[in-house]
Amino acid sequence: MLIPVILSGGIGARLWPVSRQSQPKPFMQLADGESLIQKTFTRLEALGDLAEILVVTNRDHYFQTLDAYQVLPLSQRCGLRFVLEPCGRNTAPAIALAALQVAELYGDSAQLLVLPADHLIARTADFAAAVALARQLAARDYLVTFGLKPQRPDTGFGYIEAGEPFCDCAAPAGLEAAAVSRFAEKPSQHRAEEYLASGRHLWNAGIFCFSAGALLAGLQRYTPDLFDAVSLCWQQTRRDIEPLQLPAPLFSEVPDISIDYALLERADNVAVIRCDLGWDDVGSWDALAAQLPADAQGNRREGAGEVLLHASRNCYVRSEERLVTAVGVENLIIIDTADALLVLDRRHCQDVKVLVDQLKRQG
Ligand code: GDD
Ligand code: MG
Repeated sequence: MLIPVILSGGIGARLWPVSRQSQPKPFMQLADGESLIQKTFTRLEALGDLAEILVVTNRDHYFQTLDAYQVLPLSQRCGLRFVLEPCGRNTAPAIALAALQVAELYGDSAQLLVLPADHLIARTADFAAAVALARQLAARDYLVTFGLKPQRPDTGFGYIEAGEPFCDCAAPAGLEAAAVSRFAEKPSQHRAEEYLASGRHLWNAGIFCFSAGALLAGLQRYTPDLFDAVSLCWQQTRRDIEPLQLPAPLFSEVPDISIDYALLERADNVAVIRCDLGWDDVGSWDALAAQLPADAQGNRREGAGEVLLHASRNCYVRSEERLVTAVGVENLIIIDTADALLVLDRRHCQDVKVLVDQLKRQG
């Protein structure tokens, strides 16, 4: 039994002004009209028959998520279940609750495949093969991560140092299953550069596979405070009203921590599937632009609004409605929406978050 668990909770601040609190990154539409969360659902078709999918998200996004799912062919064959959060407490509580729900429904040995709602994976068949391999290790109580060859010394990712490969796993060509020597979440710039140069480190894709029992045992051992707080919340959650809603005052008391810090950096039963999935977390405007074809001058355009560029190179312009024009500019990102305009130097893509923080402070 495998239950895909989709985590949808981040705001995607670096993709402002399109990604907002009310319309966060998973609901952003790409050029083909599909949103990132719809792509996440559709990708699951490659895994074969599924009993159901579990989504852990904020209660404000329940209807939007349901609407996004119900128009997909997959919704005809596979049910959607929700655990709704009154506020975000990061990934460790969200995953713990998913594991409690899966254990209650299907038992401790049922497996979870935890997936972010807002990533892209180009090679779906390779993804399915990697999951099949991960399930072999999850059945042996490993906490399985998916490791990708790092492309740059990015400090926003987790780094996995792969250890000895498992000889007793039937890994198809292109995949390798190995024990994890060390998991380092969001290292300093200096460390990230070391990891990139080492050739032994992989990026953590943010996708995990484990049995409900192994995950809960790990949390109980390494973060008992979190485990107790989440368990209490779960006990107090009413089962007679669907979808399940976590009790607000209690859930806001749960520690705010990611699964990477809470468990993966500490546990000794972490494994990694080394794979190449055409993965991208499309975390910034630059990453999103890279998904589009460029013209001869390296310019990319997107959206319903007309875009006219002259003597300009290497720009990405997204206009929702208005005509947007630019002359003689290079390496600019221009995002025009109904109520906000962003003009961004490509080298400062990560700093959009700073701007959003500033806007929040100003109210
Ligand atoms: N339900 C719920 N509740 N989901 C959440 C919450 C929450 O409170 N917080 C985050 N999520 C969801 C996000 O929407 C995203 O889909 C996923 O969980 C991961 O959270 P991020 O906040 O995006 O994590 P990150 O990017 O800082 O780091 C993680 O992902 C990297 C790969 O993209 C880590 O696992 C890194 O190690 C990894 O490299
Ligand atoms: Mg992320």
